[in-house]
Amino acid sequence: MEAYRLEDIVKPLLEWYEQHKRVLPWRENKDAYRVWVSEIMLQQTRVEAVIAYYNRFLKELPTVRDLAACGDEQLMKLWEGLGYYSRARNLKKAAQVICADYQGIFPTEFDAVVKLPGIGTYTAGAICSIAFEKKTAAVDGNVLRVITRLTADSTDIMDNKFREEMKKALEAVYPAGRCGDFTQSLMELGATVCVPNGEPKCGECPLSKLCTAFRKNRQTQFPVKKKKAERKNVKKTVFLLCCCGEFAVRRRQEEGLLRGMWEFPNIDKTVSAGEIRDWLSQRGIVNAAIGEAFEKKHIFTHVEWHMKCYVVRCDMKGNDTAWNWVTKERLEREIALPTAFRKVYDEGMKRMDKEEISYE
Ligand code: ADE
Ligand code: SF4
Repeated sequence: MEAYRLEDIVKPLLEWYEQHKRVLPWRENKDAYRVWVSEIMLQQTRVEAVIAYYNRFLKELPTVRDLAACGDEQLMKLWEGLGYYSRARNLKKAAQVICADYQGIFPTEFDAVVKLPGIGTYTAGAICSIAFEKKTAAVDGNVLRVITRLTADSTDIMDNKFREEMKKALEAVYPAGRCGDFTQSLMELGATVCVPNGEPKCGECPLSKLCTAFRKNRQTQFPVKKKKAERKNVKKTVFLLCCCGEFAVRRRQEEGLLRGMWEFPNIDKTVSAGEIRDWLSQRGIVNAAIGEAFEKKHIFTHVEWHMKCYVVRCDMKGNDTAWNWVTKERLEREIALPTAFRKVYDEGMKRMDKEEISYE
């Protein structure tokens, strides 16, 4: 590596950030609760997708105490569609810890923050620098991309030791009084200029004079990332069961994927028409009208669901006590349906509308 000094990026990056930062709701003030909620929402979700959820969440649950005391249904409803629901459950758990152990006031020390449920070194670094002006770097994929390009470093960015070294190196150059801005300037550059997948916008980059990858025209060769294990494919059969204007939903188990969330009745394999009739009659439903199958796919972190879906209309509700029958209105307003099943619902409703089949 050349005589590249990390501290050289600080000034140009901060100046660029002042001029180019996006106006975002969590940048309106540095209240730790607000920063925390934003960082959790942004963990796996794009900025544009987060904004509306964020504003609604803060309006309904404006303080740590509101969050600690909120009902699970309200919480899930606020999170519905954002995915990775354990993030929401951990938010509430952490709020309860903050109420019990810190009188409802967000702790300011990194070591305390990082122990809260759902908060790792990245998020703790972000919160402590942004809300409390501490020299704690937040090293995620965006930051690693920027820095490995700057230094043309081909270390595998999935390597934890490398991430720790990067965190230390950055913290050594954190500018006192501008720590939060520095954290966000790195994030912002990674999100808007030094972008992934394809060409970064080096012509607009305040660091291009310092950037080794740019000088060698090797920007797209960084970051180097080892391939993750492949996702498992799971076949499923999902039923949008409709009786007298009501739909069958049930709770998932309290463990595993989408634990505790609502779902439509489903089977963990694809089945024949005859098997569907058997499955229904075992649950006390005969003479059902089974619609044409349609397929939906949903991708989770470690599995992919390939769902074969059926609208099933019946005039009896059967005897499966796990099922709750809810109206369209309740389903849409009160039941937090994970996105995988929301896809099934949306397509099923479209079909019913098109075929002018009444669900009454
Ligand atoms: N991604 C993670 N944290 C962010 C923040 N504070 N602003 C914009 N994007 C982010
Ligand atoms: Fe990224 Fe290009 Fe800037 Fe280098 S010059 S940091 S590759 S945007």
